[in-house]
Amino acid sequence: MQERINEILTYCNEKINAVKKSNECKDLKVELLGKSGKITELFRFMKEVPNDQKQAVGKMLNDAKTKVESLINAKETFLVEAELEEKINSAEKIDITLPTESVVGSLHPRTIIQKQIEDVFISMGFVVEDGNEVETEFNNFIAVNVPENHPARDMQDTFWLDNGQVLKTHTSASQNKILRNYNPPIRAIFPGRCFRNEDIDASHENTFFQLEGVIVDKDVSVGNLIYFMKEMLSKIFKKDVEVRLRPGFFPFTEPSFEMDVKCPFCDGKGCKTCKNGGWIELCPCGMIHPNVLRHGGIDPEKYSGCAFGLGLDRMVMLSLGINDIRDLNSGNLKLLKQFKLDV
Ligand code: DAH
Repeated sequence: MQERINEILTYCNEKINAVKKSNECKDLKVELLGKSGKITELFRFMKEVPNDQKQAVGKMLNDAKTKVESLINAKETFLVEAELEEKINSAEKIDITLPTESVVGSLHPRTIIQKQIEDVFISMGFVVEDGNEVETEFNNFIAVNVPENHPARDMQDTFWLDNGQVLKTHTSASQNKILRNYNPPIRAIFPGRCFRNEDIDASHENTFFQLEGVIVDKDVSVGNLIYFMKEMLSKIFKKDVEVRLRPGFFPFTEPSFEMDVKCPFCDGKGCKTCKNGGWIELCPCGMIHPNVLRHGGIDPEKYSGCAFGLGLDRMVMLSLGINDIRDLNSGNLKLLKQFKLDV
């Protein structure tokens, strides 16, 4: 019997040596150890083995089976590793030190300038608030002193929704929420997307951004407004700027002003950006109308406030030298990629 076992082991060894690919090992296992395999065949002779030798022969057979099994497994492991090694050294090799072509996006120029302005206001104690894009008629008009049938409504060609609400025509629509949610003293800015039914051209869009601010406290004056705006503009344009006020009209402020900034590009001498005027119209503003304070639950006898509605898109265009407002909403990557600024 031992002889027969040795013969089969030699046969198995030859077969195992002949295997050249790891995936052939599975077939070999079936061939040698499977139901009709050579080793399994040997076990059939067990019936002919005399009883007193059965235990010894059984052990010999099991040892032989284990041996063949471990030989095949060892060969398989060896081949798998060799194949892997070959892959690494061959054309499939991946050089992990090679730079990969990764596409890094960038913030939209409007977001960049908005964040810069927010940071300056935050450093001066302002909170940054958010507003709705769909607003009630009350918030958009009535709360800011523009009652029904007031001619000032015509200044803002409004998208009305079927349910009587509006697409926010100005960030002033959030004033009421701010006044109600905070107790004076209040310093808040609230940037937001606004919508008007505009005829579109290089300086008009139906969708545009404003950045509104309110300051409410005891004895707030126009001086506070000028101070904060000058500080913000000087930080954004990275130089001391001068501002001036001209009379304006808005129903929600009394008195109302238009704030101009002395052209930071030519220091007022006259250039393309300021159209040779030396000044750039920048920000409508004024002292908050007592009716607006009252609508916000604030007693105008005790408190006063000022507000401004900075054209954020205009600031972006000025800061970055963009001439056409439509570029800001265009999603034109060629243009947008030019402005990878620090935030
Ligand atoms: N809401 C005005 C507009 O869109 C801008 C504005 C003017 C805002 C005066 C203000 C302000 O806060 O005081 O035309």
